[in-house]
Amino acid sequence: MSFQFNFEDSDLEIDETNIVQIPHQSVDSNNTTTLKSLDSNWPVDLIKAESLKLNELLSTLKDVRLTYSKFKLNSETEIIRRELYDIRHQIMSESDPTTNTEVVNLDFLDKDDLLKNVYEGGLTTWECSLDLVKYLDQTFSKNSENGKINKIIELGCGTALPSLYLLNQTFKNKVQNIDYMLCDYNEYVLRLVTLPNILINWYDEMISHAENVEIINSTQEQPENIVENEFTISAAFIDLFINYLNSNNIQINFAKGSWSNDLINIIDQNMSPENRLILTSETIYQPDTMPLLTETIMKLKENGSNNKIILATKDIYFGVGGNLVDFITLLKSKYSQSTYQIIKSDKSNRSLVMI
Ligand SMILES: C[S@@+](CC[C@H](N)C(=O)[O-])C[C@H]1O[C@@H](n2cnc3c(N)ncnc32)[C@H](O)[C@@H]1O
Repeated sequence: MSFQFNFEDSDLEIDETNIVQIPHQSVDSNNTTTLKSLDSNWPVDLIKAESLKLNELLSTLKDVRLTYSKFKLNSETEIIRRELYDIRHQIMSESDPTTNTEVVNLDFLDKDDLLKNVYEGGLTTWECSLDLVKYLDQTFSKNSENGKINKIIELGCGTALPSLYLLNQTFKNKVQNIDYMLCDYNEYVLRLVTLPNILINWYDEMISHAENVEIINSTQEQPENIVENEFTISAAFIDLFINYLNSNNIQINFAKGSWSNDLINIIDQNMSPENRLILTSETIYQPDTMPLLTETIMKLKENGSNNKIILATKDIYFGVGGNLVDFITLLKSKYSQSTYQIIKSDKSNRSLVMI
């Protein structure tokens, strides 16, 4: 089976509990990073892109216990994800009591949603990602025609709700032969939230079928202590998950670091350049890096055929400066051949751009 997307206008009605709405940023006025293109001299203050393999990332999560919650997107579709308190709990349990160091210190999150070029908001879910999920939910249908989208790339994925929605469909509908590439600026975002969210969604889908319960429970050291919406990433759980992916020919890979030629090369090495759906939500807020995102998505699209981009964005990021008009102006000036369509959300200041 493969995917088919029909691009239609839609009524976007979303429950937005626990979603980041307006970015609060600690602005560093001395920061002079402004990049006009991917070919500019690379500034030292942006993290370099690197490939991260699923196995490597999974091995760093062995024996971590995950707790998750669900909320309704609409009457039929649920969003299932790890909450920030559970991430903080993992960080605390991984900190070394002898040196009092933490793998990552998230104290800044109490006052800032972003720290420019350091942490760019990936641990929390931003509201336009829900517009994108809702859109996929309304346009997604199973289809076995050849030549359709079978590669999903999400850039600036963070909690990765759009990819999770598609992964859920992949698991639920027993879709085979599909590749996912999840990219985020921070490695710890991929490790602490993106990958856990994938595992949570797989676990929740598997455990909901009576025939899988015994085998899933056998991966837990004390099956008698199994609690709803919680499980441990045991070695046996990892094996089961990897076997499932292998037997269905589902590839999931990751890349950390900035939008760049290096990132494009990593993605191109991981997946062939056709039938790609390139997703990105809330990634043009920063005028300094918006040209990098624009060039990255356009090169990923134009490197092959039958590739589509969907960008979910606020029309204006008050206080930060990025905006849809500047994005479209850049798109038209640099990629004059490309066609695009803007779908306005019924929430003010939000749009989807299809390219
Ligand atoms: C505002 S968050 C949005 C997260 C998620 N897409 C959502 O909508 O919930 C921006 C995301 O883009 C990523 N990001 C920001 N600047 C980046 C850059 N220069 N290169 C790569 N990723 C970047 C961040 O790590 C973060 O996950």
